[in-house]
Amino acid sequence: MHGGHKLSGTVNISGSKNSALPILAATLLTKDECVIHHVPDLSDVHFMLQILDHLGAQVERASGTVTVKAEKVTTEAPYDVVRKMRASVCVLGPLLGREREATVSLPGGCVIGDRPIDLHLKGFEALGAAIRVVGGDVKVLAPQLRGAVIPMTGKFGSTVLGTDNVMMAAVLADGTTVIDGAAEEPEVVDLANFLNKMGAKVEGAGSRRIIIEGVKELHGAEHEVIPDRIEAGTFMVAAAISGAEVKLRRANPAHLATVSQALERAGYRIQVTVNSLTVLGNGEPHSIELTTETYPGFPTDMQAQMCALLSRGQGISTVTENIFPQRFMHVSELKRMGANISLENNTAIINGVTALSGAPVMASDLRASAALVLAGLQADGVTEVNRVYHIDRGYEMIDEKLNALGAQIERVKVKG
Ligand code: EPU
Repeated sequence: MHGGHKLSGTVNISGSKNSALPILAATLLTKDECVIHHVPDLSDVHFMLQILDHLGAQVERASGTVTVKAEKVTTEAPYDVVRKMRASVCVLGPLLGREREATVSLPGGCVIGDRPIDLHLKGFEALGAAIRVVGGDVKVLAPQLRGAVIPMTGKFGSTVLGTDNVMMAAVLADGTTVIDGAAEEPEVVDLANFLNKMGAKVEGAGSRRIIIEGVKELHGAEHEVIPDRIEAGTFMVAAAISGAEVKLRRANPAHLATVSQALERAGYRIQVTVNSLTVLGNGEPHSIELTTETYPGFPTDMQAQMCALLSRGQGISTVTENIFPQRFMHVSELKRMGANISLENNTAIINGVTALSGAPVMASDLRASAALVLAGLQADGVTEVNRVYHIDRGYEMIDEKLNALGAQIERVKVKG
């Protein structure tokens, strides 16, 4: 990447990765055909489609539309398919709901920290499932699935995929399930809307309490995935850093309130319509204090990108990570580009510098890679971001989209 180019123009926001993944998993809940639109073309989505295919579903994809028909399903998702993506764990809920059993490889930790699924499993247990971990697999078996009151909050607050998983099992349980302390993220609401289109009875999604009235079976449905608020937030930061005026089309500003507020506090101007946001960039940010929280708080998935933004400028910013306290892999790479950041427990203390300098850097996870691209946009000289497969997991053609706005990014295949 050659840094320092001004960005301007319009960018279309893709469908949400974190909505599409559980919604695709939910298609396993019915024998009928489901049609899902606005599915982003990402490697994580490909992994999910591979898993559905492995489980016996017929999967077709034509540009942004995916059709799934899971007339018959098997109930085992093995390690070699599941290990590629932690979110594969969200096939557990629909398989348990439909077949009353599921075996899925237990996801390991990942670079953003220890990522247990104890709350998912406690939820399944409350619905009547027996859980066993054998040979690295988690086996969930429930000859009978009965509605229950399930507290779903852990040490770090609510769980997004845990809420999704339990909701997907409970829609086909006998009786009423109440999820207390449910995640309120827009992606949970999107999944609940899809489940209701399939004939489920889910109320309260988007609040801390979700009530699910179990039904006997679900039918096919058609659905359009919501816009990706994290992709949008990432482009908002790109625009703030190096933009003249950048418009994000097909975004949902309501899902981006805290990101907009953070950027406004840092001195940027944002104009909003019902489905678009325009960011007026002006270079250096003011220093701010920022803390990640569950929705509607500031999202952890935007923390790395804000660190990249706040690296430049005057004054001292602090960024506290409350959801994944170790999610700071980007910090050492940003420091290689001249950023002045120190870590105190789960807080990054960022002393703004006047300039970043291009350097070869290593992507470690999805959002950390996005932060390095954002740093490269504003750095002097050339930045080389390696292991960009991390970014392709969650950003659809980010290089092409940024280049269309005026960035200068080249994708180079490296041997070995
Ligand atoms: N947690 C537990 N026990 C559990 C589940 C979670 O202790 O059983 C903890 C986690 O370790 C973490 C916190 O609870 O400290 C929140 O984790 P959550 O379960 O909400 O995360 P997730 O559902 O696994 C989704 C997104 C992540 C995003 C988080 C938080 C998907 C596919 N992934 O993960 O997205 O960071 O919610 O908002 O929806 C990303 O897109 O880059 C990404 C990592």
